[in-house]
Order: sequence, then structure tokens, then C-alpha cells
Amino acid sequence: MTWLLGICTLWLLMVVVLAQRNFNVVSPQKNLNVVPAQNVNQRAGLKTDCLGSHMRLTVDKSLTFGNRVEFDAVNGSQIEPINPSLAAKCGFSIDSDPWGNYKVFVSLLNCFAGNEDDIVFDVDMRVRVHGVDKAEQDVFQVEKTCNYDQWAPREILCDRNYMEVSVNRLPGEITALRRRPKMTQEQTFDDQWTDTVTEAITSRYNIWRMVFFTPKQKAMVLEDALKTGYGVTTTRSRLVLRSGYDMPETYVENVNGVPMKIIRVTTYFKKQWSVTMLDTVAACPTGGLSFTDEMITWFFPRFNPLMGSPQNTILEMFMGIDGKRIDSAQMTARGYILTIIDNQIVMKIPIGGPDGYYKSHVVRNQYHIRYTIEAMLELLWSEGGMDATRYRVLFPIKTPLMPRPPQFVDLTDVDQRMFDVFLGPFLYDVELVNITFSGGVLTVAESNLRGFNIQEQRFQNGSKAFRLQVPFSDLFVVKTQVDLLVTVYTLPLIYGFMILPEYTPFSYTASVDVSLRDVILPAVGGSCDDEKFHITVSFGSLGKTFNIMLGTRDLTPDLSAEYGLNENATHISLAVPFLAADVAFELMYPSSLRARLDVLLWEPINTWTLTDFSLACNFPMTMTECFSNGSMSALAVKVESVPQLVPRQLTLRDPSCRPKFSNDRFAYFSFDANSCGTTRTFYDGVMMYENEITLGNGLPVYQPIKKGVPTSPSDPEYRVTMSCFYTLNDTQTIAFFTKPRESEPLPETGFGELQVVLRLAWDDSYNNYYVEEDYPVVQYLRSPLFFEVVLLQSTDSQIELVLENCWATLKQDRNSVPRWDLIVDGCVNLGDRYETVFHPVNPKAVLYPSHVKRFEIKMFTFVQNEVMLQDQIFVHCDAVLCDINQNDGICKRLCPSPIPLKTGKKVRRDANNAQFRRAKLSSGKILLSSS
Ligand SMILES: *[C@@H]1O[C@H](CO)[C@@H](O)[C@H](O)[C@H]1NC(C)=O
Ligand SMILES: *[C@@H]1O[C@H](CO)[C@@H](O)[C@H](O)[C@H]1NC(C)=O
Ligand SMILES: *[C@@H]1O[C@H](CO)[C@@H](O)[C@H](O)[C@H]1NC(C)=O
Ligand SMILES: *[C@@H]1O[C@H](CO)[C@@H](O)[C@H](O)[C@H]1NC(C)=O
Ligand SMILES: *[C@@H]1O[C@H](CO)[C@@H](O)[C@H](O)[C@H]1NC(C)=O
Ligand SMILES: *[C@@H]1O[C@H](CO)[C@@H](O)[C@H](O)[C@H]1NC(C)=O
Repeated sequence: MTWLLGICTLWLLMVVVLAQRNFNVVSPQKNLNVVPAQNVNQRAGLKTDCLGSHMRLTVDKSLTFGNRVEFDAVNGSQIEPINPSLAAKCGFSIDSDPWGNYKVFVSLLNCFAGNEDDIVFDVDMRVRVHGVDKAEQDVFQVEKTCNYDQWAPREILCDRNYMEVSVNRLPGEITALRRRPKMTQEQTFDDQWTDTVTEAITSRYNIWRMVFFTPKQKAMVLEDALKTGYGVTTTRSRLVLRSGYDMPETYVENVNGVPMKIIRVTTYFKKQWSVTMLDTVAACPTGGLSFTDEMITWFFPRFNPLMGSPQNTILEMFMGIDGKRIDSAQMTARGYILTIIDNQIVMKIPIGGPDGYYKSHVVRNQYHIRYTIEAMLELLWSEGGMDATRYRVLFPIKTPLMPRPPQFVDLTDVDQRMFDVFLGPFLYDVELVNITFSGGVLTVAESNLRGFNIQEQRFQNGSKAFRLQVPFSDLFVVKTQVDLLVTVYTLPLIYGFMILPEYTPFSYTASVDVSLRDVILPAVGGSCDDEKFHITVSFGSLGKTFNIMLGTRDLTPDLSAEYGLNENATHISLAVPFLAADVAFELMYPSSLRARLDVLLWEPINTWTLTDFSLACNFPMTMTECFSNGSMSALAVKVESVPQLVPRQLTLRDPSCRPKFSNDRFAYFSFDANSCGTTRTFYDGVMMYENEITLGNGLPVYQPIKKGVPTSPSDPEYRVTMSCFYTLNDTQTIAFFTKPRESEPLPETGFGELQVVLRLAWDDSYNNYYVEEDYPVVQYLRSPLFFEVVLLQSTDSQIELVLENCWATLKQDRNSVPRWDLIVDGCVNLGDRYETVFHPVNPKAVLYPSHVKRFEIKMFTFVQNEVMLQDQIFVHCDAVLCDINQNDGICKRLCPSPIPLKTGKKVRRDANNAQFRRAKLSSGKILLSSS
């Protein structure tokens, strides 16, 4: 059988497109466009290949544009649409991929092929591409001539949808049974079989019956077999039987672990006296695949039901792709392996190679991929030197759906304040359509317009990933305040994808979040002027999401109006008077009030305290007033350290002295210096009135809370000491000054002025006085001068004005010389002959006699060097104030009797008086006149 191995291939490729003249023979369908193409090879999109015993027609998607494509078998003038049953019966298989690439395998032994001597086969077909409009279609005519003369005695083709077996039906190639046993096979046919083909008994027309084995026998006549859908034909030298996989007379056999579909038929030919029998059997694998993530392994049984005996030899073994053999170099390049291991022929195909393709799929919204490749196995074996069998399996392989959940990678750079996420990989056929954000769905274009950067990134292998950037600041980013300072930015995403070209939608849900300590809390600042707290609140990063509490009250709209609240986009400002109800009083000072405003910003949802601010200021405020006439007023304030205080219950030392006015925060007292238990103290030349404001006796005693000042346990809950200090002023007033002891609890002190004047009366009646405009006053030498020193205004009868020293000078300067002492240490100068005389004050003539001192001087007193001066003089006095009950010092000194002292020595007692603060009084100019 040398011809089995001989290689004699003559490829005649000829594609003839329907010529113009044939137009009238195609079906007269309306809108039929027959595209006249001169040569299919040049016509992009149509390609035919002769591949051994079958032809391959490929139609590219560029021709079909994803439209429906149908094929017709053409036999001369006869045009038959190829439907599935015709395809299985007549030897066509049609397959397409998702993009509209078609691959048609046509057995050269198909029902329609023109056949010349089983060597030259003419295949005519039509490709009809439907338009969008159903009535429209483009028709392409394909004619191909394939030469094939390598027919083995038995050829088996396992195509996708049919099994085909053809056997040589001519003498020597068949098994004949004779009715007459004397006849031998050799004798039945002569050697000139080529001349007697048409007369051969095994012509289709002689088929008497066919017996199918399932494996039970089932006999049929030819018509029934054809009607059932089997293809039965004879060519010049061969009997061809074709069956679909699901025909009733087929059966499955597990062959060494591989399921195989089997059709087994014995055909009986009858001519006259002889009956000839031909056995045809085809067995095609329907399984045998195993998959790993990287590799497809296809097992095919080394020994199969087609082999009559185990003594068989595999003569050829090829692997092919898409129906075409490939050589070993190609196999190596692709990593394909075809070997025989034990009783298996093993084909290994790495997943992902370029001969197949990946496709995306969605299963329950989960992303999957699948790899598809069409492998071919071709074997030629002989059995014990007997006839050879060529066996060819076209075997489309689809891997199972492989889940490929995409990776969601968060590359967010917090510093950029930008979400940056990757999602992938996906196959080339996945398109991102839209993204559902918290705020709505945006297409990719809309997202990019909004400033979200969506990029499709390609990998080298054609896969892709999608990168998305969204700034934290976008409204679609959900911001959650988890605590005071931390914001969580969340970007919930639903990616909407589409798998092309099927437009299969699926989605991927993801969420990314970032916690940031980026909250800028609102801040409160403030300052004071003499009347108000000026408070400014800046909003911080959260905007105005807080409530304001002043003191213990929330800021209501009414209060806001009262405090002149001003608001712009970033700030609130308001001004709170220091006496407002929301202000707390901390301490009272002599002339100011230390008041504090507490401002609290709080967040109403979680009631978080955002900011706590306190501002304390001293506001000038007259707490105690001292009047020249000796009356005093005092204001007591409820300080926060004595929360129980009821101002109207406060009294002065004399509990019967109650406030003249009070409310819930203030008590106002007004009283005279010699009432309500006011004490009067003289020391260091200072006169001090003092009283206290306290809670009445018998009330519980509380510990006062005073900042920084330790307190003794015996202090009553509330005690305000107020004092009026008076001192003699050089300019004839007695002025108040603040008590300088700072380590003690601050008493309330007040200001006041007492005025002391020295004046000259017209005469000893002391009814009229010279006024300032009268100076210089002119006096006759022999006339006395009547002086008076008086404390004006004061109503305190317990004060006594005391003249310490009086003297006269020639010049205005009270310290100039010469000088004549008139009164020394409160007594008239007895050591001289000047005859200065104190005049008693009539208690009925003046309101407060103790406030007045009067004395008379003689002008002849003023002698210098025994010469009477006839010039001008100035009289000066130092006056001090005394308590009439005080009995020490200058205040109660007893003057000696007015008898001239022998010694004539003056006794000056100024040692202790030096520190006394004196009213330094001087008269104006007095001119002495002798005439
Ligand atoms: C094909 O045409 C030939 C001749 O015209 C005819 O004998 C044959 O039966 C036809 N085959 C089919 C399947 O129609
Ligand atoms: C393509 O390459 C990417 C990146 O290297 C990889 O993650 C992905 O799995 C590859 N895809 C396929 C189908 O091999
Ligand atoms: C978003 O895309 C998905 C997937 O393609 C689709 O199913 C969905 O209808 C789209 N949503 C909108 C609102 O367009
Ligand atoms: C808002 O008010 C604050 C202070 O009250 C001021 O500093 C700021 O400039 C104002 N902003 C605008 C935009 O007016
Ligand atoms: C003292 O003077 C003040 C202020 O002028 C006055 O209110 C008060 O009544 C006076 N007191 C007496 C006792 O005159
Ligand atoms: C004395 O009183 C006058 C007027 O009231 C004042 O201007 C002066 O400062 C006072 N002097 C002293 C030392 O207090």
C-alpha cells in the first residue's frame, strides 16, 4: 500500500465568484446584492483552504460586521441553504466566534461537491450576509477546487457536528460475502476495476439494507436511513456514511476513560445473485479533556473501537489547529506536545496561546474568562499489515469558565487628597461604560468632564485595567465625621461594564475610604474694650455646623440680635456687654470688675464639644464712691464663686443697712460716713472710712473661692470691704488713694476729695472773707489779721481739723527766710510777743465746729532787726485731720498756758509728725501799710 504513504499533493486553488451571467440563476429574492468579487483571496474577508480531505472556508468579521451569516451549498443550478440537519447529513460544519468570524469545514465527500475520480473536488458555496434590514443581504459566491488523492482504504472524519466514515468499496478493498461459497473474493472482481466502477455491486443503487448496531441490531432500507438523516453516498470508489452525533442509532462507549460516540453500520449490497457486505464504523471522542489553569490536556485512547486488533501500528500522528496540520517547529514554538503515554495519546496545549482566543463571560455578575481553541488530531494506522485507516478529529476545546475576580487596588495618595484606584485586569473585550457614585451615575465621558480622571491601561498581553482618580473634595465623596478630629472620606463605586460584542453588562462594586485627621475645629478668639467682650468665631473646616453656648445658655436668635451677631462665610462675630446675663463675675476690684465670658462651641449631632473658650477682662466700673461730704456708695456684685448669694440679703456692718437697690446680681448701698457701722481710721496721715458688705448673721458660712488667695476658714461666704481713703493734698484738698496692701483680700475702695482752705476774714465776726480776686489785700500795720482754716463739704462730725504749724514769710515761697512762726505743733507761739490768738468757734454759727480753726495775728509782729517791716507777707499753715476721739500725737496735744516761758525756747515735736500728710495751705499776698 505504498500510495498511502506517498505524498503527492497538488493544490489547485480556484475560487470563482459568481459571474455576471449567473445573476439570473440566483434566487430572485428582492434586494439581493450579489457582490461580484474577482478573487476571494484578494477580497478581504473570504478565504478558502484545502486541508486534506476537507476544505476550510473562513469569513472574516470585516465582511460580516457582526451580522447574521448563512451559507448555501451549490450544486450547479441547485442552491440549498445549509441548515443543521443538512450540515450533519452532507458534511458541512459551521462555527463562528463572538465577533462574527466564521469557520466552515467542508468534507470533500460532501453531498454537493463535484467529484472527478475521487481526486478533484469542486466545492461551490454561497455566503449570504444579512443586512440590518432583514430583506437585504450580500451574497458572495465561493468556488474552490481541491485535489486529494491520498485516500486511505478507510477514512474517518470527526467534525464538530458529524462523524463521517468512507471506505473503499472497490474489489480488494471490501469484504464480500457470497451466496455461492465457491466464489472467492479474488474471483469476484477482475483487476480492471476502474473500468467497471459503475457496475460495481457496491453502488448506492444496490444497497439492499443497512444494519445499524446500537449495539443491538437495527435494519433499515436506504430510504429510511436517508430519511432518518444519515448521509449515505457512493463515489466512484468509496462508500460514504455520515451521521450526526445525536442520531438514534449511535451509542456511547467509554474507551479507556474517554467517552466516544460510535456509529456502526453494515451495508448489504445485492445484485442479482450476490450480496456484498461493507462494514463501516466511526468513533469520535466527545471528551477526554482535563484542564489546569495553564494547560489543556486532551487524552485520546491509543486503542479504540475502530481497531479490529491490538496488532496495529500508528504510522502517522499529527496535530493540527483549526483543521490544519502543523509541523513540529510550530508545535515547539507554541509549546504544544503530542505524545503517546501508556495507552493514551496525549495532546497538551498551553492556555492563552495565539491560536485560540480568550473571551470574557459573566456568571451571576462574577467576571469569568474562557479560552477557546480548535485542536485537530490526525492519525494513520494500519492493522497487522492490513488496510490502513486515516483518522481525523476536529476538536473544538473550550476551557471551563475560569473566575477572574478583578483586583481592586487602592493607590490613594493622601497628600494629594485624591482617591486613586485601579481595577483589573480585564480582557480586551470589556468596556467600562459608567460608574455609579454616591451622587449618581456618570458615564466615563461625564466622569472625565467632572474632573475624575478615568484611564484605561493596557497590559502587554492585551488585558486592561481601569484607573480612577477622584479628589476628596468632590461632592460624590462621602465624608463622615467619626470623631472630633477624624474625617473618613469614602468613595463607594459601582463600575458598570459591558462585554463586547455581546453587550453583556456586569458590574463591580467597591468602596475605598481614607481616614484623615484633617479637621480644623472652629476657633474662638476675643478681646475686650471698656464695655464689651468682642468675640470672633472662625468656622474651621466643617463650616457652621456647631451651636454656640454663651455662659450657660445657647445662643438663640433673640440673643444673637441682642449681641449684634454678624456672620459672613467664614466668621461670626458678636459683642457682649460685660454686665450681660451670660457673663460671669469673677472678682471685684476698687474700680473695676473682673468678668468672664465662657464660649462653648458644640456639635449638635453627637454633642461633641468642639471648642471651649474663656475670656476674662477687667472692666472699669465704679464700685465704691466717696463723696466730699463723707457719704459713700458701694455696689456689691454676685461673683460666681458664691453661687448661692442672694444680693438683696446683703447688709452693711449694721444689719439694718440694706441695699438701696438690688436684683439677682447686684446690690447697691448708699450711706453716710458716720452711719451703718462705718469705721474711721487715721494712720500715716490718712483718713480711712471703712465698711463691709456681708450676708447677714446666722447664715451658713461657706468657703469663698478666690483665685490664688489662701483664705482662712473663718471667712464668711461673702465679704466685701470697702474703704474711702482721704489724704491731705498740697493743693488744699484731701484726696483719696487706693489702699496699697495687695496681699490682703482686696477691699472695695473709693475715691473722694476733702477740701481744706485757708482764708482771711474781714473781721473777727468771720462773716465775710476775702476772695481770690481781692488779693493782694492791703492791711494797716496795727490791725490784726483774722484767719480761718476750714474743712469744706465733709459732714463727718467726728473729724477734727488741726493746725500743726502756721508761719509768715516775706516771699511767696513757704520755705523762704526770714520766717515768723505763728503756730507751732498745734499751739500758739508763746516764745514771742506776737500774740497769736486762737478764736473759739461758736458751735451755733457753723455746722461742724471741729472742721474749723480760727486765729488772729498782729501785724507789728513782723520786725526784722528791730525794724518794723513795711512790706508784704504771706501766711502759711500745715493742717492735718484727726479723729476727735484720737488722743495721741498732734491731734490731742495740750498746749501750755499762755504765760511766756522763761527759757523762750521752742519745743518742737515734729519727730513723730514727719510722716503725717498735711494740707499745705498758703494765703495770698498781704500788703502792709503804715498809714
Ligand atoms: C448535484 O448535481 C448533480 C448533477 O447535476 C446531481 O446528479 C446530483 O444529484 C446533485 N447532488 C445533490 C446533492 O443535489
Ligand atoms: C495579562 O497581564 C496581566 C498583567 O501582567 C495579568 O495580570 C493578567 O492575568 C494577564 N491576562 C491574561 C489573560 O493572561
Ligand atoms: C451603567 O452601565 C451598566 C453596564 O453597562 C448598565 O447596565 C447600566 O444600565 C448603566 N447605568 C446607567 C444609569 O446608564
Ligand atoms: C468675615 O469676617 C471676618 C471677621 O469678622 C473677617 O476677618 C473676614 O475677612 C470676613 N470674610 C469675608 C469674606 O468677608
Ligand atoms: C453727699 O453728696 C452726694 C453727692 O453729691 C449726695 O448724693 C449725698 O446725698 C450727700 N450726702 C449728704 C448727707 O449730704
Ligand atoms: C491734690 O488735688 C489736686 C486737685 O484736686 C490734684 O490735681 C493733685 O494731683 C492732688 N495732689 C496730690 C499729691 O494728690
